[in-house]
Amino acid sequence: MAQDAAAAGGGGAGGDAAKGKELFSTLCQQCHAVTDEKVIGPGLKGINQRRDEAWLIKWIKNPQAMISSGDAYAVALYNKFQPVVMQSFPDLSDDDIRNILAHVEAANAAPAPADNAGAAPAGGGQVTAGASESPSGLFMAVLVALLVVMVLVLVVLLVLVTILSKAVGPATGDTTGGTSFGERLKAGLAAAAGNSTLRSIILWLFVFVVTKQTFDGLYSVGISQGYAPKQPIAFSHKLHAGQYQINCNYCHTAVYKGKLATIPSANICMNCHGEIKRESPEIQKIYKAIETDTPIEWVRVHNLPDLAYFNHAQHTNVGQVQCQSCHGEVEKMEVMEQRSSLTMGWCIDCHRKTEVATKDNAYYDKLVTLHKKSSKEPLRVANIGGLECSKCHY
Ligand code: HEC
Ligand code: HEC
Ligand code: HEC
Ligand code: HEC
Ligand code: HEC
Ligand code: HEC
Repeated sequence: MAQDAAAAGGGGAGGDAAKGKELFSTLCQQCHAVTDEKVIGPGLKGINQRRDEAWLIKWIKNPQAMISSGDAYAVALYNKFQPVVMQSFPDLSDDDIRNILAHVEAANAAPAPADNAGAAPAGGGQVTAGASESPSGLFMAVLVALLVVMVLVLVVLLVLVTILSKAVGPATGDTTGGTSFGERLKAGLAAAAGNSTLRSIILWLFVFVVTKQTFDGLYSVGISQGYAPKQPIAFSHKLHAGQYQINCNYCHTAVYKGKLATIPSANICMNCHGEIKRESPEIQKIYKAIETDTPIEWVRVHNLPDLAYFNHAQHTNVGQVQCQSCHGEVEKMEVMEQRSSLTMGWCIDCHRKTEVATKDNAYYDKLVTLHKKSSKEPLRVANIGGLECSKCHY
């Protein structure tokens, strides 16, 4: 039954795939792919066929309980993936889980129609494949299609112009006597210059290219987005924060309390590496730093110019902004990388959009009441002075 629906490329396992996608990307994606690729846990392709729904709901809510209950499949999984164990999700409802499973099904059902139709990779098949790509893939496809159309229009116009100039050619040729290629070209160009559609197309293309170049140029002044320097020790956030789920503030100890997040000292590493992987040459570097009493020289990745003031606690603690909103998916980074631009425009943009976390914060009670009198919009950072120059500039 569920299989039929899936084969038809329909609603998958009877849940809402769109809702499931969101849950999947926040809760499961760091460990699972929807394909059969192994990330930290197994790829989930075909999971609705491998296991029945009741089993899956029980498993996802509490894998450890299932393993200790002696369920043969669960025990085999556990043995295969040791030492990593999947965490439990007791707060997910049965429907949440059905939605996630529907998303996994839908993500894999996409290329299926082409197979079912038994179609050779003809035009139709390719179009469906293209349309089922990620939004950015789709966007690129539309862009490319638009470009192709534009080029076609240009070609047609050029052909028209040549035909026109040929028609004009002999007439002028009669009076001037003899038409050289140069003269015909001139006549053609004159006709083209007289063609307002062609002129406006060229003008628009020109405007488009110049604007894009200018903006790209402006936005990249002094920006080091994507900067990912090699570090003195091959420390991986993907391993520590992702796979082993060590809290960010276990190492960045001041991130909820102070202006700076701080980089951990070698002593914090020793809490674990006093025992774990002592023989590894990378870990030996930590021992050496401690023995010689020289700090590890981590290369700084994020760096605002001195003229700007930024405070972590204000954002992470008071504002309840997630690290990932500003630093990207750190828990997936093998090498630390700057994901956001850190420009003034970036700060301001978020302050304009983001609502202040006023709930359970008595400090904001009066402000909220005042704000409600004058506006129907929610209280945003911009409304509490988040756009004032002096808040961010000394
Ligand atoms: C911290 C990593 C991690 C996260 C997060 C995680 N899983 Fe898992 N998952 C695993 C591992 C590892 C296994 C293999 C069994 C084991 O060792 O516990 C697994 C096994 C599974 C299986 C069984 C796969 C099979 O082939 O039989 C399912 C289904 C599953 N996970 C679903 C989910 C869903 C749904 C979520 C999100 C709500 C999720 N997992 C989140 C790590 C994770
Ligand atoms: C086990 C310790 C540890 C944990 C846990 C950890 N980090 Fe780090 N973090 C480091 C170390 C060491 C560095 C410096 C080396 C590097 O950049 O990779 C660092 C660097 C960073 C940087 C870049 C600092 C700079 O130079 O600009 C950011 C941002 C960061 N961590 C965010 C996070 C976030 C977010 C988490 C939680 C998801 C996290 N870290 C968890 C140890 C840790
Ligand atoms: C809470 C425990 C914990 C802390 C704190 C911790 N690590 Fe780790 N680290 C681990 C675990 C677990 C592994 C994986 C060991 C394995 O692969 O068997 C690991 C692996 C590593 C590896 C890979 C070693 C190799 O050769 O495979 C490096 C490098 C490393 N850690 C560096 C650091 C540094 C630098 C710090 C301090 C900033 C740090 N760790 C802090 C638990 C920790
Ligand atoms: C609102 C955006 C924002 C959030 C949220 C945020 N950071 Fe940052 N982070 C920054 C900026 C901007 C810098 C550069 C600061 C500077 O150069 O003065 C930075 C720098 C860092 C650094 C380098 C050392 C330092 O303190 O300058 C670390 C480590 C770091 N962040 C970790 C974290 C962790 C861990 C979290 C979540 C608990 C987090 N950040 C949340 C914007 C943010
Ligand atoms: C992801 C969204 C986000 C980004 C990006 C961001 N902020 Fe904020 N910022 C907030 C939120 C939310 C608050 C409100 C915290 C509170 O309730 O006090 C805030 C508050 C502030 C405040 C205090 C404003 C006041 O009136 O009390 C300052 C200063 C500030 N941010 C500076 C910066 C700077 C500098 C940057 C860029 C380097 C930045 N922020 C980037 C979300 C963001
Ligand atoms: C939310 C924080 C925030 C607010 C509010 C803010 N700025 Fe900035 N500003 C920054 C940050 C961060 C930078 C450094 C990054 C950059 O150069 O884009 C910066 C850079 C600048 C620079 C230097 C630009 C350069 O190219 O080096 C000037 C000048 C400036 N700001 C003026 C202002 C003025 C004037 C206001 C008030 C109308 C203002 N800023 C409000 C965060 C802010």
